[in-house]
Amino acid sequence: MYEVFRDMGGRAARRLDCRVNTENLMRLLSGLVEPLLSPLSSLPSGAHVVQIASGTGGLSRALARRRSDLKISAIDINPAVLNAGHTEADRNNLAVDFRKMDMTRLEFADDSADAVISRMGLLLAGTAPFAAAAQEAARILRPGGTMSIATWADLAGSPYTRIGLDVLSRFRTPEELAGFETAFARPQSLESYLIEAGLRDVEGTWYNWETEYPEFADWWSFVTGIGPLAPLFASLGEARLGEAQQVMTERLAGHRTATGGYRLPATARLITARG
Ligand SMILES: C[S@@+](CC[C@H](N)C(=O)[O-])C[C@H]1O[C@@H](n2cnc3c(N)ncnc32)[C@H](O)[C@@H]1O
Repeated sequence: MYEVFRDMGGRAARRLDCRVNTENLMRLLSGLVEPLLSPLSSLPSGAHVVQIASGTGGLSRALARRRSDLKISAIDINPAVLNAGHTEADRNNLAVDFRKMDMTRLEFADDSADAVISRMGLLLAGTAPFAAAAQEAARILRPGGTMSIATWADLAGSPYTRIGLDVLSRFRTPEELAGFETAFARPQSLESYLIEAGLRDVEGTWYNWETEYPEFADWWSFVTGIGPLAPLFASLGEARLGEAQQVMTERLAGHRTATGGYRLPATARLITARG
């Protein structure tokens, strides 16, 4: 499978400034905190919550900030993002247990989680095979437990791929960008993987929100410095990268805010289910 989102926050991010780009990633994803955490509001004290493919665990840290009485585990396959998340949690005195794990082989017992959460991790194109990851999530979620996840369902949903690929298409052949389409091509709905894994009350909705980048440099650093588009921009070379920056400026013009920033709409698939 085309590894589109495997390195989010990893090698490519380190090429520029990892911390700055994590901040820029959060500008995109922080709008999902409320809708993802609100289904967890009735969890009892001491409940175990597992965030799958947590990256730096911003969602787990947001939960720990609200509910210090929960036991929160954040797992990811990339030790670099886990370390960054751990440092940030420590700095803010938040109890999140960051652990390196493959989402298709979770080291948690059957029925050991009261809730499973994921933000652009579980059922995200290019991470892990969907059926295997859904089965593992269903295996650890106790009967009656809550699942709450968000994922990009297509390339148009995220401004990162919608606008980033649009700009790159002026400089790259369709064949060079075809892997993205392939990674997002699904013969069945995202929800069906969870139903097949035995989860109940599976419900998917479209969620729209607005993301804001205070300056062009924040957006440019994000789209060229982190994730699957970063190597494609980097390989343009300096002169064509300058041209790409110009095209990006034109492409963003319609999104300008009164304060000189950029407001970019995003749409994700929000899915809830019960164990
Ligand atoms: C788009 S990023 C996640 C962003 C993060 N969830 C957040 O909210 O900030 C996708 C993540 O999936 C992780 N990943 C990819 N394959 C994985 C696997 N098989 N098991 C666990 N994590 C995986 C990557 O390391 C990366 O951190």
